[in-house]
Amino acid sequence: MTQHFFDKAYAARDTNVIRSLYDEWASSYDEDIKAQGYATPDRAAATLAEFLDDKEQPIFDIGCGTGLSGAALKQAGFTTIDGGDVSAAMLEQARKKDIYRNLLELEVDAPLPFAAGAYAAISAIGVIGPGAAPISLFDTLMHGLEKGGKLLFSLNEKALEDRGALGMIHEWTDCGAAILLFAEEGPHLPGIDMKSTVYLIEKN
Ligand SMILES: C[S@@+](CC[C@H](N)C(=O)[O-])C[C@H]1O[C@@H](n2cnc3c(N)ncnc32)[C@H](O)[C@@H]1O
Repeated sequence: MTQHFFDKAYAARDTNVIRSLYDEWASSYDEDIKAQGYATPDRAAATLAEFLDDKEQPIFDIGCGTGLSGAALKQAGFTTIDGGDVSAAMLEQARKKDIYRNLLELEVDAPLPFAAGAYAAISAIGVIGPGAAPISLFDTLMHGLEKGGKLLFSLNEKALEDRGALGMIHEWTDCGAAILLFAEEGPHLPGIDMKSTVYLIEKN
């Protein structure tokens, strides 16, 4: 296990540094994270499966990485999954797996590569928070949905230490611009005793 990568990831804030870190980590990422019992993708996929009946509706898996999140969505029955990530090396690993319809390399801080409403759901599993994308990505993703569109995401304990993370959810739900359908804490990386909360939000 490469503790080095976990430590570096959780300390990193700058998106270009984060992208280089994942480029470096890509070849051993699956092995390292599975060794810690990575549990969030299955929990998140089961949540979406409960609330989105038509499993053929398209999903955009942002920060798809090597495809562990997409694999869980596929396992839960979803058939039309596109993925995007800022790390070319993580995408190269994802390409080796038969999960995604399309895979896109995303520019750091660029607008979403699709029109609002193109997807019934967007997933950001293990993506928002220290070591990955900034909290502001949440707002960008909400704007990528249309009424009825769903945002499935997780925040680990480190992400939740930042009060702004809950604030961003309340900004949408308190005024009725979105409804919180589901929020549940559970195991994230049991091997390092870390939990995450899985959220499902529907845009109004
Ligand atoms: C912890 S990994 C999670 C990967 C995958 N979703 C999973 O569950 O295994 C975080 C991923 O987010 C990507 N990432 C970081 N910042 C991003 C951003 N601003 N936009 C899209 N992807 C980003 C990283 O390159 C990395 O592949």
